[in-house]
Amino acid sequence: MKFDPILLTKRHNNYRENSINLLPSENILSDKVKYILGSDLASRYSLFIKDDGNAYGGTRYADEIIIKGGELVSSLFGVKFAEIRPLSGHISAMIALLSITKKNDKIMAISPENGGYDGYSQDFLPDILSLQYRPIPFDVKAWNIDYQNIEKSIRDYRPDVIVLGASYFLFPYDLKFIKDLSEEYGFKIIYDSSHVMGLIAGGEFQKDIFKYAQIVYGSTHKSFFGPQGGILLTNDEEIFERIKDNVVWRTMDNYHLNRLAALVQASIEMKKYGREYASNVIRNSKRLAKNLDQKGFGIRSFRDGYTESHQILIDKKEMCKKLEKSRIIIDCVGRMGTNEITRLGFHEKDVDELSDLIMLALKKNVSRDVIELRRRFRVRYC
Ligand SMILES: Cc1ncc(COP(=O)(O)O)c(C=O)c1O
Repeated sequence: MKFDPILLTKRHNNYRENSINLLPSENILSDKVKYILGSDLASRYSLFIKDDGNAYGGTRYADEIIIKGGELVSSLFGVKFAEIRPLSGHISAMIALLSITKKNDKIMAISPENGGYDGYSQDFLPDILSLQYRPIPFDVKAWNIDYQNIEKSIRDYRPDVIVLGASYFLFPYDLKFIKDLSEEYGFKIIYDSSHVMGLIAGGEFQKDIFKYAQIVYGSTHKSFFGPQGGILLTNDEEIFERIKDNVVWRTMDNYHLNRLAALVQASIEMKKYGREYASNVIRNSKRLAKNLDQKGFGIRSFRDGYTESHQILIDKKEMCKKLEKSRIIIDCVGRMGTNEITRLGFHEKDVDELSDLIMLALKKNVSRDVIELRRRFRVRYC
């Protein structure tokens, strides 16, 4: 058969519309956001050149989206400055590091073995940016920073920057504790909130984060239900100027106007419904973890419980293949997330029904029941 991307896209859409997605790294877009992504903006340019206005014509409406959109995103997070142009969470991480470090500086971050983002380990961003990296001591039983031992590491290593945030992210940090150390030892704190951006936007995770972190940044499409992209947020004007200088021609050129406008639309939805969405996400993930643990699925539990975020961790990574036969999608690296099902309107009683289906799916194919459950829901909070 002829290779046909339109046909494959239709099949993909149909498959996903008839599956239940528990990937913590993904979410589902409202029809308004999808409309904007497929609009004429997708093939246009706009490039502000300092003091000279825009390098391109035809941008009168696009420019308004970028300027007012930035203001809207900063008001959503209750922060003075928002940079909404980065194309991804990874690029926002690169911009954050570029804006706050100089060559040969030392950073500390959660290691990938403890659920940290691989991008901060030595061979990746630190290598590209000529930085040195050392892992933050981690308490696996609490799935959090090892607060007993971090001071010793800081005293020995003398980091310039501590990067908080992770890819396997369950519990908020004691930011006051880290801030007190930063005052004593003189390092800066930046916070990769890629996974928990939607929970922070909804005010339900790591409250007062901007009191402690100089830059908060990350992806816009995991617990935040926007299009794929990245943002950086700060209250510090000087840092914001450096962030802006590290966007065009240093980490990217054009910034995909359709994505920006779509992000602004998603932020309007988040502003209106974020608190309710975020608290339901957390409630649902706790419920899913408890149900599955009680039924013997193999859920990891920690000193403070299963989770305070959208994620839960599972014992057996290979479960993903078995579940996908029944159209239940999880990742194959040991996580499940309730962000997408919550956006579809799942409440705890629906999570109970889903938990039963997950257990049945370990024994037989329950695709039909999964499709039936999925079809009862449409995107909400928009
Ligand atoms: C903590 C963290 N930071 C950054 C990224 C990169 O995000 P993106 O895929 O938006 O580039 C990820 C990706 O999963 C992540 O988990």
